[in-house]
Amino acid sequence: NVAGSKAGLAISQSLILIVCLQYLIKQFSESVSLMISVERILQYMNLPKEEPITSDNPPPPTWPSQGQLILKNVNIKYHMDDPPVLKNLNVSIDPGWKVRVVGRTGAGKSSLILALFRLFNEGLEGEIKIDGRDTSSVGLSDLRCKISIIPQEPVLFSESLRYNLNPFNQYDDLKLWEVLRQVELNDVTLDHDIFSGGHNFSVGQRQLICLARAILRKNRLLVLDEATANIDSHTDTLIQDTIRSSFKECTIITIAHSLNTIIDSNRIIVMENSSIVEFGCPYELLHDKPNGYFSQMVEKTGNQMAQNLLEQAKKACEKNNDHCELNLSPQNTECESDTTLTEQTTL
Ligand SMILES: Nc1ncnc2c1ncn2[C@@H]1O[C@H](COP(=O)(O)OP(=O)(O)O)[C@@H](O)[C@H]1O
Ligand SMILES: [Mg+2]
Repeated sequence: NVAGSKAGLAISQSLILIVCLQYLIKQFSESVSLMISVERILQYMNLPKEEPITSDNPPPPTWPSQGQLILKNVNIKYHMDDPPVLKNLNVSIDPGWKVRVVGRTGAGKSSLILALFRLFNEGLEGEIKIDGRDTSSVGLSDLRCKISIIPQEPVLFSESLRYNLNPFNQYDDLKLWEVLRQVELNDVTLDHDIFSGGHNFSVGQRQLICLARAILRKNRLLVLDEATANIDSHTDTLIQDTIRSSFKECTIITIAHSLNTIIDSNRIIVMENSSIVEFGCPYELLHDKPNGYFSQMVEKTGNQMAQNLLEQAKKACEKNNDHCELNLSPQNTECESDTTLTEQTTL
């Protein structure tokens, strides 16, 4: 009997000991993972600091009212020891222009967009002026909230859709519903939860949410990195049409991949090896640089399509009133341009 009671005591004590051990292991693994968070915070604390988020001389709240953008001798490096990823960029974009940026992967298109937001610390040289004001003299917060962006792979806050559209509580629900309808996101509610940076939404849907956010903010400058994959043609058309109707007066810079959306732009920037190698309206580039990157891009679509695109480019150019600058007015270059058009058909 004594042996039995001892055995019972031993078993019950070992059970308690096992529970204690389990608790100990759980506490240990939790503190290890918390220490990883501490390590990460220390890493963030040691990151180089950005420029100040506010400035002593902030721009007026209406800035930028026009949307003019001038880049003067802009050089960009990701790291001080690396070669520049953008070299000596000089470009002037008038208010309201729709500019498309094209070029091979790695040419520096996305870096150009990042430069507008001053996402480089000491790696950015030269002047970026918006409506005549050098962006280096504007606080980062003032600058970044004045440029809307629709990135290629948008990341959303892991919060409600309402918070993602209206993080500073500036608009009422009615307004939010209105823009959601405009971008045809009818089947989601404002309380819809967004998980892990938005991965419970498709890339196209995430771009539509960014578009809705841009419509709400009504900034004069919009930059857009067109999605190359995972986006159906309907969503693509919807984004293009909404941008055309809602941002008529705004300056839009788009990293574009599809020729159909490029051809009616005011200007095209072709980037190669970290520099701008071609800049002009689509017709001008097709007309003046038959061996250029843009002409080659059109040529690859086949003869019939190239001819259509050339016609479209000519019409768009005339509509945008660029023909005066291009010296393509009917009285002096009709014949000449007709000959060139026939030559260009071989594109
Ligand atoms: N975070 C980064 N750190 C260092 N180099 C980078 C970084 N992002 C891009 N680059 C380099 O900058 C160059 C231009 O890249 P990017 O602007 O992304 O080109 P694109 O958008 O035209 O494909 C590439 O050579 C790339 O390797
Ligand atoms: Mg890119």
